[in-house]
Amino acid sequence: MSSLLVSALRDVVGAAHVLVDADVRATYETDWLGQTHGTTPAVVRPGSAQEVAAVLGVCAAAGVAVVPQGGNTGLVGGSVPRGGAVLLSMQRCSSLSTVDTLSMQVTAGAGVTIEHLQQHARAAGLDFAVDWGARATATVGGAVNTNAGGSRVVRFGTMRAQVMGLQAVFADGSIVTQLEGLPKETAGPHLPSLLVGSEGTLAVVTAARLRLVPWFRATAAALVACDSLVDAVSLLPQLRQLPNLDAVELLMPEALAIACKFLDVRPPVAPSSAGAFVMVDCAAHHDPTDELASLLANERGVLAVGAQRDLLYRIRDHVTIAIGALGVPLKLDVAVPVQHLDRLVRRVTAAVPGDARLVIFGHLAEGNLHVNVLGAGEAAPLLRERVLEAAIELGGTISAEHGIGVAKADWLERLKGPAAYAALRAIKSALDPTNLLNPGVLYPDLPTRHDPQPRFT
Ligand code: LAC
Ligand code: ZN
Repeated sequence: MSSLLVSALRDVVGAAHVLVDADVRATYETDWLGQTHGTTPAVVRPGSAQEVAAVLGVCAAAGVAVVPQGGNTGLVGGSVPRGGAVLLSMQRCSSLSTVDTLSMQVTAGAGVTIEHLQQHARAAGLDFAVDWGARATATVGGAVNTNAGGSRVVRFGTMRAQVMGLQAVFADGSIVTQLEGLPKETAGPHLPSLLVGSEGTLAVVTAARLRLVPWFRATAAALVACDSLVDAVSLLPQLRQLPNLDAVELLMPEALAIACKFLDVRPPVAPSSAGAFVMVDCAAHHDPTDELASLLANERGVLAVGAQRDLLYRIRDHVTIAIGALGVPLKLDVAVPVQHLDRLVRRVTAAVPGDARLVIFGHLAEGNLHVNVLGAGEAAPLLRERVLEAAIELGGTISAEHGIGVAKADWLERLKGPAAYAALRAIKSALDPTNLLNPGVLYPDLPTRHDPQPRFT
């Protein structure tokens, strides 16, 4: 690592926040599940938008690319440093405004964890709606950049629906601050919306103005055992009638079994007793148990309230980690119109080699499946092709909530079509003409003028 570059970075953020020691860098160089590895000459931890702007200036002058990173819980390699890029860890941008109960909004730094944000909102009697298993580590910045989804999308939408405004730093160092949170504003295109889901390629998000929702303390969940995935899908119309429906998750038997084994808990329902499990959650100001119980009157399954509901969520939240503990799976995050889910699963199942282990779970209401294949071996590339192709052919997407990252960058043009891809690429080139920000993510064909090796010597 060039000592000139390091000293310039230290001048900007302070010596304590430029990490060059190999042991310290290591945790930033590999993602949480140990699936993607990279190397960076330095981890830089800015504490403000101004510091981010100055870091970008130093890196641009040195000819070194920049990879932003939040909680490093990504699943597509989008925040793992590549090609000698400086790793910009956003964890110190962790300020939180007081909760504005008039507008039901809060301003959170990019480095605030989802769990901390939820606790902060709840202390004011409100809640933050986007929620998923990695909440303790995943950050607001990462959630904005991936347009994170999770289990409550059926009720509140994805991250895009929560973002009322952003503060972000563009590649030229300019800082845009739109944190007023106006619910109505039609003065031209909405820059914050453009940045949601842009995976750190258009700007570095430093803070977000976020919508909050009521905190529904009364909850009741159920695990419904269905004979087949078709039966699970056919529950949706009646589930959608539930006035306080908060989540409709899918656990195929293998996913339920693996998570229970990992946690060493007894499955609430024997995994082998059904073809698919639907986890339904209701949350309200008044006890929603009865509304859910009436559903179960016609179905097989268990009602889970209090500690039993907590256990159900623990099981659901641990599926990804439990699979990761068994090996490095081929992992795909696809979605199709929900009426085509069964066709998708049939095509995926037919493509999986006999000796590999297929584990499927996901978000039923959005037709979003997490397809995990353990032991695919040399068949993995072809299998990936088959699964992504099937999702596109069925009118779906190759990424519903994890992002494109580097893992699926080769597929973006195929998914979007030439005209849409060209438009997205043109936006990227206009905002980041030298491809300083997260090169290799989303746009694999875009050259970067930033050398793998820093020019300062
Ligand atoms: C989940 C993450 C992996 O649904 O998206 O658990
Ligand atoms: Zn998910």
